[in-house]
Amino acid sequence: MRTLIRGGTVVTATEQMRADVLIEDEKVVAIYGSSDAAWEKTLADAVVGVLADKVIDATGKLVLPGGIDPHTHMELPFGGTYAADTFETGTRAAAWGGTTTIIDFAVQTKGQSLVEGFEAWMAKAEGVCAIDYGFHQIMGDVNDQALKEMDILVGEGVTSFKLFMAYPGVFYSDDGEILLAMQRALENGATIMMHAENGIAIDVLVQQALERGETDPIYHGLTRPSALEGEATHRAIVLADVAGGTPLYIVHLSALEALEEVAIARDEGKNVFAETCPQYLFCDLDDLGNGFEGAKYVCSPPMRDRAAGHQEALWQGLATNDLQVVSTDHCPFCMGDHPRFGTQKQLGRDDFSKIPNGMPGVEYRMELIYHGGVNAGRISLNRFVEITSTIPAKMFGLYPKKGTIAVGSDADIVIFDPDRTHTISAETHHMWVDYSPYEGMEVTGKVETVLSRGKTIIENGEYLGSPGDGRYLKRDLNQYLV
Ligand code: URP
Ligand code: ZN
Ligand code: ZN
Repeated sequence: MRTLIRGGTVVTATEQMRADVLIEDEKVVAIYGSSDAAWEKTLADAVVGVLADKVIDATGKLVLPGGIDPHTHMELPFGGTYAADTFETGTRAAAWGGTTTIIDFAVQTKGQSLVEGFEAWMAKAEGVCAIDYGFHQIMGDVNDQALKEMDILVGEGVTSFKLFMAYPGVFYSDDGEILLAMQRALENGATIMMHAENGIAIDVLVQQALERGETDPIYHGLTRPSALEGEATHRAIVLADVAGGTPLYIVHLSALEALEEVAIARDEGKNVFAETCPQYLFCDLDDLGNGFEGAKYVCSPPMRDRAAGHQEALWQGLATNDLQVVSTDHCPFCMGDHPRFGTQKQLGRDDFSKIPNGMPGVEYRMELIYHGGVNAGRISLNRFVEITSTIPAKMFGLYPKKGTIAVGSDADIVIFDPDRTHTISAETHHMWVDYSPYEGMEVTGKVETVLSRGKTIIENGEYLGSPGDGRYLKRDLNQYLV
């Protein structure tokens, strides 16, 4: 099967060119480009009917590498329930939003082996995903066996491990455990991903707030000060140094103080990287403050005070490469009951600390970042592709199979209308969650057609794929090291 995408502007991290893209089965096999429009047309006309079975007209549209969201949590068990999207519903919603690869987090719980955790998540995803997927491994119990098993998982293509300085009693690791995991990662080549918030201090503040009768969602934000994200980020960087220079990737960075720590480390030439997420770029502390409605915005780290400058600093960090990636940390929980998992955000109606932490986003990322980034003049079109696709691919060992449009790459391609305006709403999104944090927001730029390994899965407002189209991706080591 050969498909030709004609007449669009192909955008990669480094190029923008009027070009036609020829796909054979799962791969890009030719890119016909010319600065001479007449020659381009002649060439393309010669190709149509001779080489292509299907032609997609992309005139006036952007032809982008499929988005790579390296931070999702489908079906994550959290706070007595599960993240609302299954691998089936969540990956389908991702496709609607122009994301053609996710990297989710397999979970090792206390007392469980790392490999058991990985196998359990492989089983959840097997045969149901709409798009390609890989896994990071959450280390919830750092012990001798788990440290050895890190090497086995690297061999299985799980080349990044997430540790938590937050959530004592659940996922939390102490500094000694973190150091041990970092030392092992230095040997086996893995990247350590860090949830950098000082969870021990936060738990004291949470307890004190509850004792004062402060139970509303706003206190979730007020008990997790940005200074404690900065402190934990600093500590994680020092520990990675002491381990010998283990590659360190700070997840869901939200705070100015944390960004400053990452920027200092990067200026010193360290292998320290960070991502932020749309919720930190568009939402703020006030969103947590509207009575229990604020539960929609409960995630960790929390929404930050806009007036303190966090949000603009994050946008600037994306432009200057102090931040390298926008992921979503997609981890939705319903405000009402979930059809499969039951009560979710309501678990914390009388106690903010019991609200399951997480927000939806996998479907919105590309359009939100295009709108708030490119349209608003904060980042270039090439940088948009870089932070949503190319760097995630390099950071997590998928490049150039994923993350670009080039001969030999997987034909994961998004045809994007830069001029189409639409309104975000839970009524029209495809994520399996009953609210949108961005309800009513008008954005310009819309995903129109999505190809995953050459198969058209979104076209003319219809989903054309099937569960199981997506394949597991065995990832290489970090390709973005200094
Ligand atoms: O609140 C969040 N971020 N929920 C998902 C789990 C995590 O820490 O990434
Ligand atoms: Zn986290
Ligand atoms: Zn997360």
